[in-house]
Amino acid sequence: MGIEFTLNGETVSFKGDPRTPLLEVLRETYRLTGAKAVCGEGFCGACTVHVDGVAVPSCLRPVGLVGGSRVTTIEGFSEPDEPHRLQEIFKEHDVVQCGMCFPGMVMSLSKLLEENPSPSRDDVKRGMAGNICRCTGYERIIDAVLALQDNSEARS
Ligand code: FES
Ligand code: FES
Repeated sequence: MGIEFTLNGETVSFKGDPRTPLLEVLRETYRLTGAKAVCGEGFCGACTVHVDGVAVPSCLRPVGLVGGSRVTTIEGFSEPDEPHRLQEIFKEHDVVQCGMCFPGMVMSLSKLLEENPSPSRDDVKRGMAGNICRCTGYERIIDAVLALQDNSEARS
């Protein structure tokens, strides 16, 4: 019997070593390569996914611990023709460079916005504290997240 969990809305059953990192299972068994394998030690956040609605580094989570859980990756997070507003604003602000950090960044910051739709600059910094970006210097990412509020004010 495998380890059953919900992956992007579908029930899957992983038959393998329960100690296998969730990241490896996502990328190699289910071919979901949006979560990136970078440090493998929980430092960079590139592998962040949602497990039962919480942003977690999937490299540190043994798949045996997600039995019965809801796992969402960047692939199941939005549709190509209906991107999340974070993905739109990052594109609008031309923030993405190599793109390695961005799936994890979106997964972490989307949780911040869910919990706090009007974050301050410091809130955004805290929300992305577990995500390393080696390209942007962070300020452009923060500016883009804050611009979401300007956009929604402009719309209201
Ligand atoms: S690859 Fe998981 S935190 Fe870096
Ligand atoms: S855009 Fe390259 S690591 Fe963030």
